[in-house]
Amino acid sequence: MAGATQKRRAFYVTTPIYYVNDVPHIGHAYTTLACDVLARFHRLDGRPVRFLTGTDEHGQKVAKSAEKLGIAPQEFCDRVSQSFRDLAAAWDFSIDDFIRTTEPRHIKASQALWQRLVASGDIYLDAYRGWYSVRDEAYWAEDELSDDGQGGKLAPTGAPVEWVEEPSYFFRLSAWGERLLAFYEDNPDFILPTSRRNEVLSFVRGGLRDVSISRTTFSWGIPVPGDEAHVMWVWIDALTNYITAAGFPDTESEAWRTWWPADVHMVGKDILRFHAVYWPAFLLAAGLPAPSRVFAHGWWTNEGQKISKSLGNAIVPGDLVQRYGLDQTRYFLMREVPFGQDADFSHKAMLQRVNGDLANDFGNLAQRTLSQIAKNCDGLVPRPGELARQDEDLLARIDGLLDTVREQMEAQEIYQSLVTLWEGIGLANSYIASEAPWSLRKTDLARMATVLWVTAEAIRQLAILVQPVMPGACGRMLDQLGVPPEARSFAHLGPAGRLVPGTPLPEPQGIFPRIVEAA
Ligand code: ME8
Ligand code: MG
Repeated sequence: MAGATQKRRAFYVTTPIYYVNDVPHIGHAYTTLACDVLARFHRLDGRPVRFLTGTDEHGQKVAKSAEKLGIAPQEFCDRVSQSFRDLAAAWDFSIDDFIRTTEPRHIKASQALWQRLVASGDIYLDAYRGWYSVRDEAYWAEDELSDDGQGGKLAPTGAPVEWVEEPSYFFRLSAWGERLLAFYEDNPDFILPTSRRNEVLSFVRGGLRDVSISRTTFSWGIPVPGDEAHVMWVWIDALTNYITAAGFPDTESEAWRTWWPADVHMVGKDILRFHAVYWPAFLLAAGLPAPSRVFAHGWWTNEGQKISKSLGNAIVPGDLVQRYGLDQTRYFLMREVPFGQDADFSHKAMLQRVNGDLANDFGNLAQRTLSQIAKNCDGLVPRPGELARQDEDLLARIDGLLDTVREQMEAQEIYQSLVTLWEGIGLANSYIASEAPWSLRKTDLARMATVLWVTAEAIRQLAILVQPVMPGACGRMLDQLGVPPEARSFAHLGPAGRLVPGTPLPEPQGIFPRIVEAA
């Protein structure tokens, strides 16, 4: 019973594990950022959180990349995996675990899952004759391909395919269609957004083929237990990472009981099928619970163009941070489009967010409130008199934000939650504009103190609520409001944590500078 309660509260969120054939770009940063926002939100909301990311290191694609550089695959993986860890540090990602699929714990878990599938009768030996895309690390059926115009064939992803003939173990996916459809029906929120769910449903309704799950023509992979001529297909190995990090195969462990099933697997739409069809089928066949949710987000383009190696237009995460600031970049990525939709990066859009939403709306609100307190209230949190109707109204609206935002975050509606919080910022801005404490300075000092206290209290709560997206900037804002670090969780929102009159405040400093620069 205690375990069940604990699990209901605990929150386990994962990113895809990234291939080490490429260094991190904005797409990888985006997915991990979204997970960081969710992880931070639920921690601030008092839940035990586990946030997992890592690198996908086996398979033909990685082996080939290493070969091209003339180095051993393990050495190559060590090198590139580190660049994903560096990204996490540079972007302030609050990860709890970083998994690498070449680690012993993962090899053990993958082989244990395989053995469960053998025991359940879902794996059989045959031969694969068909198309394979190394770039996608995926098998494609003839009728899914198109001509490349030069005698070759292309997968629907645009990746070239090659003909493969080799002995292979298969997973009996064809037997799982009906049970998957029943599972989707019983768990209507398993796949979000809903438009993506419909895609998956129609794919599964179209009928599933058994899937080849081992390779014999190269060796950079996890050996198939009992038949070492085969290595596992990289995707069965990769998906297993989510249970490895939750303690599998020790299903009696504290870790397993606390964290599995995962609450959210966050993925890009490119790899939804693997997560929403293959993965639950593998787990259900192995007698293990499926995750609670797979959320497939949209795709970033750069100034209207597809981001690709050949175009050389990858957005380097470090460049963005250097140019616009980390908090600004994090905010932009989460605020530019509703989470789930495709998005386009442009310098112009970035400037609008930084100068409009951050410098004007949020930054100015804090800046003018704090500088008036510094000038006219001796740098102490002012003491409010009796609250007027409009003061109570503003505070009631701000006190109510958490309920709305919590509901949005349960559905990974990060963008909507920011819209809600910026409505709160808008209310506080209208309040200070109509109460005009700068005029009260000459006519009614007591009322001025009340208005500044109410505004500062609204900013306190807004800064606490925006922390998951902009931890650095909001931390500095809370410093300037004299809110101690231990009073920054959601338990301190509302009347529980009102600003204490008389608290000395540091010299105010601008938090969101305007960027003045031509496009
Ligand atoms: O697929 N826009 O790894 P991967 C948005 N190893 N997101 C993007 C993006 C873009 N332009 N480009 C990449 C793999 N992504 C497998 C996953 S999981 C068990 C194994 C993000 O390195 C997005 O999350 O190709 C996408 O799903 C992921 O990077 C693909 O990373
Ligand atoms: Mg990819």
